[in-house]
Amino acid sequence: MKKHEQWNSKLGFILAAAGSAIGLGAIWKFPYMAGTNGGAIFFFLFIVLTVVVGAPILIAEFLIGRNTQKDAVRAYKTLAPGTSWYILGVAGVIFSLILLSFYSVVGGWILSYLLRSVTGSLTNENYGELFNSIIGNPIEVVVCQFIFMVMTIMVVKGGIQKGIERASKYMMPALFLLFILLAFRSLTLDGAMAGVEFLLKPDWSALTAETVLLALGQAFFTLSVGISVMVTYASYLSKTENIAKSAFSVAGLNILICFLAGIVIFPAVFALGFEPGQGPGLVFVVVPAVFNEIAFGGIFLFVFLVLLLFATLTSAFSILEIVVAVLVKDDKAKRGRMTWISGLLIFIVGVPSALSFGVLADVQVFGKSIFDAADFLVSNIGLPLGALFISIFVGHRLPSKLVKTELAQGSKNLNIFFSIWYFVIRYVAPVAILIVFLQSIGIIS
Ligand code: PFF
Repeated sequence: MKKHEQWNSKLGFILAAAGSAIGLGAIWKFPYMAGTNGGAIFFFLFIVLTVVVGAPILIAEFLIGRNTQKDAVRAYKTLAPGTSWYILGVAGVIFSLILLSFYSVVGGWILSYLLRSVTGSLTNENYGELFNSIIGNPIEVVVCQFIFMVMTIMVVKGGIQKGIERASKYMMPALFLLFILLAFRSLTLDGAMAGVEFLLKPDWSALTAETVLLALGQAFFTLSVGISVMVTYASYLSKTENIAKSAFSVAGLNILICFLAGIVIFPAVFALGFEPGQGPGLVFVVVPAVFNEIAFGGIFLFVFLVLLLFATLTSAFSILEIVVAVLVKDDKAKRGRMTWISGLLIFIVGVPSALSFGVLADVQVFGKSIFDAADFLVSNIGLPLGALFISIFVGHRLPSKLVKTELAQGSKNLNIFFSIWYFVIRYVAPVAILIVFLQSIGIIS
C-alpha cells in the first residue's frame, strides 16, 4: 500500500529533526574544527552563520518537505514540474551516500571505545596512543563500521514512526544532562580558564577566508542542511506545525550542544596538557581523560559512549532515510530490501575512508587523506552548494504566495518574521554563500 507516513506528535518531529542535527557534528567535529581553526573565532563565526544563513535554509528545507509530503526527488519535481530542479534531490542522495560512508567510520570508532569500556580497558590509558592504535587497525575499524551500519539499517528499515521517533525521546535529554555534568568537572580542573578563553576570547589573526568557509560548512553540517535530508524529514510532518519555530528550536539546541562540547573539551585540553589542534582524535582522547578525573568515571564514560553512539545513530538514520525514501517512493513492500541495499552500498563506499588512518594512510586525494577528502567534499562543497540552490529555489523559483501560505500554517503572527526571512532567503543567504565559496576556492580574493 502506498501511503506517506507521518510523525506521531509534534515533539516527535522536533526530536527527530534535532536528533538528525545533533550528532558527531557538534560533539566530535565542532571541537576539533574549533581547535584547529582559532577557537573563539571559529565558534563565533559558526554561531553567526548558523543564525543568519543556516536556520533560514533549514526553514526552506522544512517548507519544501512539508508542502509536498514527498521524498527529496519527487518534492522538487512536484514544485517545479518539467524542470531540472529535481537534480537537487538527486545530488542530495549522492552526497548523503558519501556523507554516511565516513560518518559510519566514526560511528565504528565509538563502538570500539564502547567495547573497551565494557571490558574495563579504558581506564588510565595513554588515550592518544589508544586512539591511534584503534583507527589504524584495519580489521577492527571495518568490522565496527559494518556493525554501525547494520544498526542504522535495522532501525531505518522499520520506518520513521516505529524506529526513529520512539528512540529519540529519552536519549537526547539524557545526553544533555551528562554533558552538563562533564562540563562542570572540566571547568573545575586546575588551569581550566585557559580553555574557556580559547573558546570565548577571539584571536582575530585566525580570521581567514578559509576559516569562514569551514565555519559555514560546520553550520550546515550540524544543522543537517544542504542535501535535502531535512526536506525528507519534514515530508512526514503534519500541516498543523509551525516550521519556523521548529527550525529555530533545532538551531538553538545545536548551538547549545556545540557550546557544551567546547566547554567540556577545551578547559580539559589546557588543564590536562593536550593539544587543541590535534584533529579528529580530540574528543576520543580528551573525554576519557576527563572521566578519569571523576569518581566512578569508568561507569560515566560508558554511559557517555552509549549516548554518543545514540546521538550518532539518530543522525545516521536521517542520512540513510533520504536515500531510502527516494528509492522506495512510499511503497512499503520495498522498504526493507532497499534499506539493506543502500546501507550495504554505503558501507562498501566507506571502507577506504575507514582504512585511511592505517593501511591506506599514504593514499592522497587532492592532498588529503581519503577520509578528509570525503568530509571536505560533503561539508565544504556539497552542503554549501546545495544550500545555495535551495535558497534560490525557495526564494526565486517558488511563487511567494505558496511560500508564505506554507510558512503561515500553524503559526499566528507571521508578517514581520516572514519579510525578514524571505529577504534573507532571496538575497542574504545566496550572496553570502557565494562569496564565501568563491573566496575559499580562490576565484575572488
Ligand atoms: N547534523 C549531523 C551531525 O551534526 O552530526 C550530520 C548530518 C546529518 C549532516 C544529516 C548532514 C545531514 F544531512
